[in-house]
Amino acid sequence: MASVEIKEDLYWVGAVDWEIRDFHGYSTKKGTTYNAFLAMDEKVALFDTVKKPFRSDLLHNIRGVTDPAKIDYLIINHVEMDHSGCLPEVIELVKPEKIFCSAMGKKAMLDHFHREDWPYEVVKSGDTIHLGKRSVQFLETRMLHWPDNMFSYIPEDRLLISSDAFGQHWATSERFDDEVDGSELFMHAAKYYANILLLYSALIQKLLKNVQEMGIALDMIAPDHGLIWRSQPQKILEAYGHWSRQETKPKALIIYDTMWRSTETMAKAILDGLVQEGISCQLLDLEGTHRSDIMTEALDAKALIFGSATLNNGMLPRMADMLNYMRGLRPANRIGAVFGSYGWSGEAVKQMNAVLEEAKFRIVGPGISVRYVPTHEDLRKCVDLGREIGKAVRETE
Ligand code: FEO
Repeated sequence: MASVEIKEDLYWVGAVDWEIRDFHGYSTKKGTTYNAFLAMDEKVALFDTVKKPFRSDLLHNIRGVTDPAKIDYLIINHVEMDHSGCLPEVIELVKPEKIFCSAMGKKAMLDHFHREDWPYEVVKSGDTIHLGKRSVQFLETRMLHWPDNMFSYIPEDRLLISSDAFGQHWATSERFDDEVDGSELFMHAAKYYANILLLYSALIQKLLKNVQEMGIALDMIAPDHGLIWRSQPQKILEAYGHWSRQETKPKALIIYDTMWRSTETMAKAILDGLVQEGISCQLLDLEGTHRSDIMTEALDAKALIFGSATLNNGMLPRMADMLNYMRGLRPANRIGAVFGSYGWSGEAVKQMNAVLEEAKFRIVGPGISVRYVPTHEDLRKCVDLGREIGKAVRETE
């Protein structure tokens, strides 16, 4: 992908990764992009770089605009390797006068690249540098999602370069939000939030408040992944408001793994009970549904119900993986319940309940365990559990 002028004398010079399918356990079924931006001014500045294997894409795009040797400043908003992997080679080529970064960014670069001799220039929230006709204001965004993250805001262009925040893992030939299907774009943005940022929701609330109080005027939000928000940047800010407040809908997910279909039969009976109470419900089999897609659905689901057969005195492996993943992301204010079949010991239900207790779910019932194959009476109890969960969901509306 060639460079794209996103504002006058300001270019996207990143790379599109069409092939990546897994990003630390997050399924990137449609790839991703590593966005980098080049500001042509009295001082030429490059904002972030790209993942190491995409170094030549970055340099090709920069060369389409200017000689890389003419870059004066590197502005490193985030040191994770998908944005800094090719930094040593870029620095070797560019020989920048200054590398602007947060204090934690400098520490992270030293820990990654072990180069004391690079020309670091530490900046903090509120600091401004001048490139010529435009300036860059910095806003540290610690733990969103690494300690080093920061935003760069260019007031003359009303442009916020937002590092990982507001991103999406989606490889496209288009660069702007108004060039793609809006519902697919928001699905990718929601998946990104649910799987990367949900854990930091309280910090995002504070950040959104700070941005509002600073009165930042915005034409465009340019994240380091995916499409640039230019048609209605306010819409993604509002979505982050909803997601970070962990606002949910009267919706239930029944997430299960089964051995000989007994747990699946129970899942369907619980669904019947939820439907009887008018709750929108999805049955998600872990055999065919990726953990990161489940978290995307869980972002606005009030009730999360887990079912697993017992294997080797514990949960089935895919359920253990799912709960461990979800526990790390910390969905809050949820209603939960558990169920499953067993042969002779039945620990899975107890173990799943323990995870939900630790996650501070409001748990409905003690959980339903069924030996081997559910009877008609067992399934009636499952329907009743579904109805009880449905009532609890409706009470919260
Ligand atoms: Fe896209 Fe935290 O790196």
